[in-house]
Amino acid sequence: MRSFVLKGHILHSRDKDRIDIFENHYLVCQEGICRGIFGQLPQQYSDLPLEDFGDKLVIPGMSDLHIHASQFSYRGLGMDMELLQWLEHHAFPEERKYEDLTYADRAYGQFVSHIRRSETTRACVFATIHREATELLMEKMEDSGLVSYIGKVNMNRNCPDFISEKDAIADTRLWLQETAGKWENTKPILTPRFIPSCTDDVLEGLGKLSREFDVPVQSHLSENLSEIRWVSELVPGTKNYGDAYAKFDLFGKDGQKCLMSHCVYSDDDELQTMKENGVVIAHCPESNMNVASGVAPIDRYLELGLQVGLSTDVAGGSHESMFRAMIHAIQSSKLRWRLLDQNVKFLSFDKAFYLATRGGGAFFGKVGAFDDGYEFDAVVLDDANLDHPQQITTHERLERVVYLGDERNIVGKYVRGRKLF
Ligand code: GUN
Ligand code: FE
Repeated sequence: MRSFVLKGHILHSRDKDRIDIFENHYLVCQEGICRGIFGQLPQQYSDLPLEDFGDKLVIPGMSDLHIHASQFSYRGLGMDMELLQWLEHHAFPEERKYEDLTYADRAYGQFVSHIRRSETTRACVFATIHREATELLMEKMEDSGLVSYIGKVNMNRNCPDFISEKDAIADTRLWLQETAGKWENTKPILTPRFIPSCTDDVLEGLGKLSREFDVPVQSHLSENLSEIRWVSELVPGTKNYGDAYAKFDLFGKDGQKCLMSHCVYSDDDELQTMKENGVVIAHCPESNMNVASGVAPIDRYLELGLQVGLSTDVAGGSHESMFRAMIHAIQSSKLRWRLLDQNVKFLSFDKAFYLATRGGGAFFGKVGAFDDGYEFDAVVLDDANLDHPQQITTHERLERVVYLGDERNIVGKYVRGRKLF
C-alpha cells in the first residue's frame, strides 16, 4: 500500500539554512510519491487511509552517502592510527574475510539489520573486492526495503596479495551484467577504492565501464595529507587529486553521476571542477576525526554552491547513526572555526539536518524532503522518553532527539511509500 496520509508534526528542510515546521499537519503519499504537506486535507485525498501519529515528529528519511558494510564488524575499534596505517592494520585484514560467504552472510546480515532500524532510508555502500559476497549484500539490502547503491570495491596495487584483484575489469563487467537492472531499490556503483589502490589500466577500464553501463562512480578524495602527496607521485602531471580521477573519466561530467567522500583538503581548482562536473561531496566528520584526517570546510563548500551530503563512513566512523553524524559535523566545524579558520562559519543544526536529508538525498534524485513530487521517505520519531520540565518548541524537540535519542526513538519508517515498520 503506497498511498496514504500521515498526520503529526512534520519537519523538513526548506533550504540549507532553514527547517520548516508544520504542527498537526497532513502529509500525503500517493503511489510512493509525496504530494505535499497540508493544514487541511484536500478533498481529493480524503479517501486515503490515514495514520495519526498524534504528538510525534515526522521527518524525511536520511541518506548516508558513504558507509563500508564490510567494516561494520569492527566499528568502534582500532582508531589509534592515521588513515594509511589504519587501512593496512584493520580494513584490509577484515575485508579479506568476505571471500568466505558464510562469514559474509553473517556480517552483512548484521549490517543490514542495524541500518534498517536506523534513521537512514538510503545509502551509498562500499562492499569488498569479492563479487559473490557483494551480490549477497545486494540481495540483503533489497530485502530490507532500503534504497542503495552498492559498490564492489576495485583494488589491485599497494595492498596485500590476499586482497588484490587479479582480473579487476573482467570481474567488474561480470558483476555489472549480473546486477544492473536486477532490483527495484538496489543498484551497482563503480567503486575504485582510491587512486593509490588501482593501476592506471584498471582506472581507465572503470571509466569506460561507467559509460558503457551508465552506472555512477564513488570513491575517496583528498582525505589525508600523506595520501594526497602519494597520489601526486602515482599520477604525475595532474593538477590535484581530483584531476587524477578526471584523467580516467571518473570525475563526473557529461551526465556521469559521481560521489566523492571526504574532500577535507580539496583546493580551489579541484572544487571548481567538482562544481562544473556535478560531483557530489560526502562529508564524513566522525571518520575524519577518528583517523585524524582533519575537518572539511563544509560551510564554504555550500556557499560555493557545491552539492554536499552527510555520511557515517563506518568503520572510520564508529556508528551507523546519521543523527550522530549530524552532531559530529556540527561539533567538528566549531573546533575548526575556533582553532583554525574563522572565515568559514561553523554548521548550524539546520544546516546539518539539510546535509543529512535534502543535501544527500539529491544524489538519489528528488529525495530528502516533503515537496510535491519527491519520493516518499519518512521517519517517525517518538521523543516522549526525553523528559523535560519546561515547555519546548517542536524545533527544540527535534534538536534534542538528534542529540539525545537512539533507535528506540525511531518508531516508524517509510521508503518510497512502503512502510518498513
Ligand atoms: N581510503 C581508501 N580506503 C578507505 C577506507 O576504507 N576508509 C576511509 N575512510 N578512507 C579510505
Ligand atoms: Fe570510506
